[in-house]
Amino acid sequence: MKSSNTRRDFLRTAAVVGTTLALSGCSGGNIANSEGQKKNEPSSKPDVNKMGGEVTATEDLMREHGVLRRALLIYSAAAVKLRADPSTIPPDALQQTTKLFRGFGEEYHEKKLEEAYIFPAVKKAGGEAAIYSDILVVQHNRGREITDFIIRATQGAKLGASNSEPLAKALEAFVLMYRNHAAREDTIIFPAWKETMTGNQLDELNDKFEDIEHEQFGDDGFEDAVKQISAIENSLGLADIAQFTAPPPPKP
Ligand SMILES: [Fe+2]
Ligand SMILES: [Fe+2]
Repeated sequence: MKSSNTRRDFLRTAAVVGTTLALSGCSGGNIANSEGQKKNEPSSKPDVNKMGGEVTATEDLMREHGVLRRALLIYSAAAVKLRADPSTIPPDALQQTTKLFRGFGEEYHEKKLEEAYIFPAVKKAGGEAAIYSDILVVQHNRGREITDFIIRATQGAKLGASNSEPLAKALEAFVLMYRNHAAREDTIIFPAWKETMTGNQLDELNDKFEDIEHEQFGDDGFEDAVKQISAIENSLGLADIAQFTAPPPPKP
């Protein structure tokens, strides 16, 4: 993510400034005339007021949930349409959603971050959050089974009446599970995980997660995932958020 470059630039600049301070004997006048920063040049201090700021590891995890929640909204809409008229759901749009959930959700967010870093740390720390770790892994694994099923069920050119009910049920069960799952992670697991680290350790993990994301997706994993989910919403007529504004309540 581009925003993390801001953080890295910040750290790099801070290191350079720190070295300069040490070499100059911490004298303000000397610093201004030291190598690399001539008098009257703009200060090389990190611009902490730069727009956007850094993305922390917990913010990263929660906005990844945002992408996955948008996939769940597509699943919910698809389940309703499958029951009404299966031919109105293009299987490839549903399959693209499922493949995005697999790549971005299961293989990256769950496997590389939650199962590798977050759950072990939370479990080790004990307390309320630790109790959740095992069931959350069970749910990841069940989710993967259902994802396999959805990929198989959406391979044909059309969805027919014969497989629409089992598919609708699987989608609904997946949605209910992950709405509960992600809400607990956001409110119990991630805050508990943050509590296991100092600010410096969290900073290191921010960078580590950034590296994992780049390894997995190249430069813009999150941004690409948002673009993909937006395109699928568009193809299914779900992009315009105004259609979801609730009607007014009944008058007294
Ligand atoms: Fe999870
Ligand atoms: Fe999660």
